[in-house]
Amino acid sequence: MTLNNMRRVFFFIAVVAMMATSAFAQQPTATTERGKLAPTPPMGWMTWNMFKGDISEQLIKETADAMVESGLRDAGYKYVFIDDLWQGGRDNRNNIIPDPKKFPNGIKALADYVHSKGLKLGIYSDAAQLTCGGCTASYGFEEQDARTFASWGVDYLKYDYCNAPEDSATARLRYKTMADALSKSGRDIVLGICEWGQRNGEEWCEHVGGQLWRTSSDVRDMWKDIVNQGGVGILDIINVTAPLSKQVRHGQWPDMDMLVVGLNGKGGPSSDLGGVGCTYTEYQTQMSMWCMMSSVLALSNDLRHLTPEDKRILLNKEIIAIDQDPLGKAAERVVNEAGHQVFVRPLANGSHAVAILNSGDKAQRLSVSFKQLGLTGKYTVRDVWQHRDIASGATKWGGKVQAHETKVFVLR
Ligand code: GAL
Repeated sequence: MTLNNMRRVFFFIAVVAMMATSAFAQQPTATTERGKLAPTPPMGWMTWNMFKGDISEQLIKETADAMVESGLRDAGYKYVFIDDLWQGGRDNRNNIIPDPKKFPNGIKALADYVHSKGLKLGIYSDAAQLTCGGCTASYGFEEQDARTFASWGVDYLKYDYCNAPEDSATARLRYKTMADALSKSGRDIVLGICEWGQRNGEEWCEHVGGQLWRTSSDVRDMWKDIVNQGGVGILDIINVTAPLSKQVRHGQWPDMDMLVVGLNGKGGPSSDLGGVGCTYTEYQTQMSMWCMMSSVLALSNDLRHLTPEDKRILLNKEIIAIDQDPLGKAAERVVNEAGHQVFVRPLANGSHAVAILNSGDKAQRLSVSFKQLGLTGKYTVRDVWQHRDIASGATKWGGKVQAHETKVFVLR
C-alpha cells in the first residue's frame, strides 16, 4: 500500500470511528431515575379481564376515546394498557412484532394515537420464552425488546412470570435484567412486577428497578372464593395485601390487580373460577380499599358502555385523591375481627382517611372510637361516598354498615 493509500484508509477508519462515537453519544438515554418513574400509583385501563385475546387497534382507540369523553382521563386514569395476546412472534431480525391482524398499523401508530389524546400506552411481556397465554416473550431478548418498546413509544411494561423458574433469586435476576434494559432503552418506561406475590416481590421490587408489585393471583369478578376453586375475589385480595402496608412508599406501589368494577360477571378471564359478578356495594368496597391501600388502579370493564353506577364509583374524585395522596402511605389495618375490619391512612394535609369494612354477610351496626385508631383529637368527619361532612367535633363514629360495604371517612 502506498503512503497516500495508507493515509486514505486511516482517514476512512477515523471518520467511521467518529461517526460511530457520535451516533452512540446521540443515543437518547432515559432521563428519570427508576425510583421516580411512578411518583403516585399508576392509573389506567387493561384489556385482560374483559377482552382476553379479543383485542385490536380499534378497541384500543375506542377505549382511549372513551377515557377522554367519560372524564376518566381527567380524573387521573392515564394508561391504556395492552395485556397478553397482542404478539405476533419475531421478524427475521428477531424483533418482537404485534399480531398483524389485531394491530395492522403496528404499535407505534397506536401509541401516537394514544399520546395525541393525552394518554399513555402500556404493554405486556413475560420473563420467560413464552407468556402465560403462550405467546412470544422477552427472556434472552430483554435489551432488544426494551429498545423496540421504547421505539414504539411504550410508557409502561407489565412483566409477567409464567413459564419461568420458581425460585426468587432467578425472578429477581430476570426482573433486574429487564429493568436495566428499560433504563438503557432511551425512554422512561414504568416496570410492573407480576409474580403474583409468590416470591414476595414487595421485598425486592425497588432493588431490581420495578415500580409496582402484584400482591395476589388473578382477581376474579367476585367477593371472595367461597367455592374454593382457587380464584381470588375482592376480600381475598384485601386480606393478602393488608399485611404488606409497611412496604408501600414513594415509587413502590402494590398492584392489587385490576378493578372488576362494572364487569358484572360478563368479563372473560375474570369470570372463571366462580367469578359470577359482584353487587355495586362490593364494587364500591373494591374501589375504596384499593385507594386506601395506594394500589395501582387498573380498570378492566368496557369503557365504551359505562353505566351511571360505574361512573359514580370510578370517577369519585375524593376517593381517587386518597389513592394518589402525595404522602404515599398505605392504610394500616388496626382492627381485624371476623366480621369487620378498620383501616387508617395518614394524608399529606395532616388529616386521616378511615375505612370501616363490613366483611360479614349481614348488615351490622359498627362503632369506632377514633382514640382506638390513635387519633386523639376532635374531628370533622367527611363521608367521601356521600360527599358531605357528617359530623364535627367528633371523637367516634357509629352506624349501620351494609353487608360487604365499606364506609370511608376523612377526619380533619
Ligand atoms: C397472568 C396475569 C394476568 C394477565 C395474564 C395474561 O399471569 O396475572 O393479569 O396478564 O397473565 O396471560
